[in-house]
Amino acid sequence: MSLSHRASAITLSVTLALDARAKALADQGHDIINMSVGEPDFAAPKVVQDAACRRVQSGDVKYTPAAGMRSLRKAIGEHVGAIRGTAPYAIDEVTVCHSTKHALSGAVLSIVDPGDEVLLFLPAWVSYVEIVRIAGGVPVAVPSRADCGPDFSAIERAITSKTKAVLLNSPSNPTGYVWSADEVRRLAELCERKKLWILSDEIYRRLVYEGEPNLSPASLGPAIRARTIILDGASKSYAMTGYRIGFVAAPKEVAAGVERLHSHLTGAPNTISQDAYQAALVGSEPLEVAQMCAEFDRRRRWLIDALRGMGLAVPWPRGAFYAFPDVRAYLDERGTRGFCEDVLEQQDLALVPGTAFGVDTHVRLSYALSLDKIKLAAERLGKFLQAHPTRAAAASATR
Ligand SMILES: Cc1ncc(COP(=O)(O)O)c(C=O)c1O
Repeated sequence: MSLSHRASAITLSVTLALDARAKALADQGHDIINMSVGEPDFAAPKVVQDAACRRVQSGDVKYTPAAGMRSLRKAIGEHVGAIRGTAPYAIDEVTVCHSTKHALSGAVLSIVDPGDEVLLFLPAWVSYVEIVRIAGGVPVAVPSRADCGPDFSAIERAITSKTKAVLLNSPSNPTGYVWSADEVRRLAELCERKKLWILSDEIYRRLVYEGEPNLSPASLGPAIRARTIILDGASKSYAMTGYRIGFVAAPKEVAAGVERLHSHLTGAPNTISQDAYQAALVGSEPLEVAQMCAEFDRRRRWLIDALRGMGLAVPWPRGAFYAFPDVRAYLDERGTRGFCEDVLEQQDLALVPGTAFGVDTHVRLSYALSLDKIKLAAERLGKFLQAHPTRAAAASATR
């Protein structure tokens, strides 16, 4: 009995082994600080909770259409337009999905044929590569600048006659980098010239703490909007990770393609979560969202200062809730994975190795945990670094 090539070729997330080890250590009584989590440590806004409860208590929790409730599609279409400064998306340009991940896989399956290439900008979120592969596509990793911004000559070089799409993730997981308006414009012009789709994963769009807000390529006029597929959801902006709800906003052929696929693969999204998401989107933004962002910002500033104080180079993250320091001076032949294993074993601190994002030079720390815990985590990381001379120091000591 053998598995399909498809299932065999997919690799499990490299973070899972570390996560399992962190849990095993916690079970043995270790006080683990887990900075590997990618979800807000806040409750969903009250209006969201109330809407979910109301739906459950109504007893009317039935299937909805595969593309989601029309009222939610309308609310999403209007919200996307208002936030991105575009005309509202029509109902048939929106397909509600079980999550942003689900939206992304539906969109990739809708536009990518076997052999088509999709450009990803390193460091790139762990699931991009595998989702493109599941669709039979070829993920093409494009290196970025040292500050984690786009390297346009590398992007131009990576484009071939087989390139079908680019995958933009701004603000970025894992770097927190937010593309400037000029950078988004430049990418959009390139995609227009080369006739490429832009898959724009905007899940962290609300979490930008300074400078210009995130710009969606779809905001750059009808021609670019016609080649942009927006992927977004409730998980990060509204602290609704467990609700599992997201959407595709795109030209109607794409939205319909995603709907057709999902009608067979997964069926309608969760009805309770649809109501809950609609409550988050209509009317003014729930107050809790700005409060959550202010708290993330406070933690961000504290953490980046602390990491820089330890002598680590950290690209300044304008968005999301991650720091991505360069630890290459401390690596041995096991790379960032070995570094994270050692930090976990010696300091009870869980981080994510850069290999999960295609770069073996940095590690990711999430600041979606209380400032007290972040301070304790920084203390532990500081102790770890002090106990481990950099490679340069170790080399000069043996000379
Ligand atoms: C860049 C990025 N895209 C998509 C997702 C998936 O979000 P969702 O919970 O809506 O599936 C995540 C979650 O960590 C993410 O970091």
